[in-house]
Amino acid sequence: MYSDSTTTETATRAAVSAVDISKTYGEGEAAVKALCTVSIDVAPGEFLAVMGPSGSGKSTLMHLLAGLDRPTEGNVYIDGDNVTRMKDKELTLLRRKPSASSSRRSTSSPSSQLRRTSCCR
Ligand SMILES: Nc1ncnc2c1ncn2[C@@H]1O[C@H](COP(=O)(O)OP(=O)(O)OP(=O)(O)O)[C@@H](O)[C@H]1O
Ligand SMILES: [Mg+2]
Repeated sequence: MYSDSTTTETATRAAVSAVDISKTYGEGEAAVKALCTVSIDVAPGEFLAVMGPSGSGKSTLMHLLAGLDRPTEGNVYIDGDNVTRMKDKELTLLRRKPSASSSRRSTSSPSSQLRRTSCCR
């Protein structure tokens, strides 16, 4: 899946930010490229719809943005913290935080967006 959102200018105030993340499951001939260099910023209070055909990587993206899985490449930030580099124990503590998916710093208004996605194969 590709994202057509390329800006990372708002990364410092985003609740969740992904920078050039890719995800490949498996290795060698069995490797499946689920995400290819996706960048996205989700502002505090923002509602985001991820759309795409079955197998295009929607669940993979959500898992990565939630810190439930690690990207093969790139970085994911939640409230400014790089979850890609966190150890399992740190991730567990992050998931327990009520504010894990909302910013403590921003005062921006809620908004909604629709972003187009497409399969990378
Ligand atoms: N754990 C895994 N191991 C290997 N391949 C996987 C794994 N999870 C997902 N995939 C593959 O990665 C690709 C993206 O899967 P993903 O589940 O993210 O798609 P999706 O857009 O959520 O699909 P759906 O709309 O059917 O829920 C698919 O080709 C899928 O088969
Ligand atoms: Mg899914």
